[in-house]
Amino acid sequence: MAQYQDALHPDRVDLGERDCLPRWELIRPHLPTTGMILDVGSNLGYYGLKAIGENAGVAVVSVEPDPSTAERQRQLLAEHGTTRICLIEGALDSALATQWAEKCDWFELTLLLAVLHWTDDPGRIVRALSSMSGVLIAEVPDSGDRGACGQSRLRQWADPIAWFREHTGRTVTLLGRVPRHTSSVPSHLIMVSGPISREPTVPYWNYDPLYGPQRQPRTGVDAAPYQMRYDGERVHFAIRGEEVAYRPGVNVVSLMYLGRLLHPEPAYWIQGAAAAVESWPDHGDPMPHNMLWTPTGLSLIDGDDQQGRSTMQASQLSMAHHVTAWATTRPPSARPYRGGCLSPYRRLRRGTGRALRRVVGRKGVARVKRLLGPLG
Ligand SMILES: C[S@@+](CC[C@H](N)C(=O)[O-])C[C@H]1O[C@@H](n2cnc3c(N)ncnc32)[C@H](O)[C@@H]1O
Repeated sequence: MAQYQDALHPDRVDLGERDCLPRWELIRPHLPTTGMILDVGSNLGYYGLKAIGENAGVAVVSVEPDPSTAERQRQLLAEHGTTRICLIEGALDSALATQWAEKCDWFELTLLLAVLHWTDDPGRIVRALSSMSGVLIAEVPDSGDRGACGQSRLRQWADPIAWFREHTGRTVTLLGRVPRHTSSVPSHLIMVSGPISREPTVPYWNYDPLYGPQRQPRTGVDAAPYQMRYDGERVHFAIRGEEVAYRPGVNVVSLMYLGRLLHPEPAYWIQGAAAAVESWPDHGDPMPHNMLWTPTGLSLIDGDDQQGRSTMQASQLSMAHHVTAWATTRPPSARPYRGGCLSPYRRLRRGTGRALRRVVGRKGVARVKRLLGPLG
């Protein structure tokens, strides 16, 4: 069967039409030694497999929308028996990328190879993903390449370096011109690097504001609750002005919003979550939204935020429920994450308390509580 990328089996390579190796040789020097890689339009997973073979400390989020290509990639990943590539059947568009950049995820390296000209708004996607990536490597066809798909999009890349500079404001380097199998005009392999910062507004998808600390009375929103600053070498992460240790990993809920889970299979996530909860038994809210997928498996975060008081059993039920839905629902159906574990009574109490505080202030609320006595 004709295939685009080389299929990397554990014991052999089935060559595809694409010249994968020359691209890999140009990308390889910029591979992180640890942390997370995002490969959008990953096809048969060639670059993800190369990356995990190169460095034991990296994990790859591999996103591929074409069902049959994604299924072939799934088979390859299963042959390798790896749990360091999470394969998701899904397509990235500018709305999804922009929403994602509002959350607290971060990638050491993002690959956008020969995929931007398939998307609805390449500029918005690059702006969003650059703001959440230490290094971003993209391949765009030459504007004069008549053999490339998405001809109407190509004109914008008459000067690819200037285009990436304009959309990212960062250092842009041409890693090389790379051959194309459908034309004699080579593509541009571009690297975006250097300092960048952003202020995510929420920690994860479908975050319930009642969970967090009180919002600013005047503006109604938290003032810069999160800050991610990349100095060109490492990431600095601050929560409400206080620097916290950055741990490489992607929020499990973010992965769920990218599309359908193909690999690793559900049991990996359910068992991994149980192990994470066992190793942090007094975590107050061990739900999927407080779990990172990392190169070493699932790991809990935000243990000090003891507001939820979920039980270990509730955590396991929630993980099993959401992972099953994640693995069975084809995108683009909406699959909102419902992770909040505040009971209706606590939600009402907290919501009323906040509304009252805004109107009568803290002292007023204290007075109302005294008046209500045990009811308050
Ligand atoms: C030209 S191939 C490039 C494959 C691979 N990135 C490479 O460079 O070898 C484009 C790939 O992007 C995928 N794709 C197309 N539109 C996409 C989208 N909106 N989001 C993610 N992937 C997409 C296609 O299914 C295909 O596998």
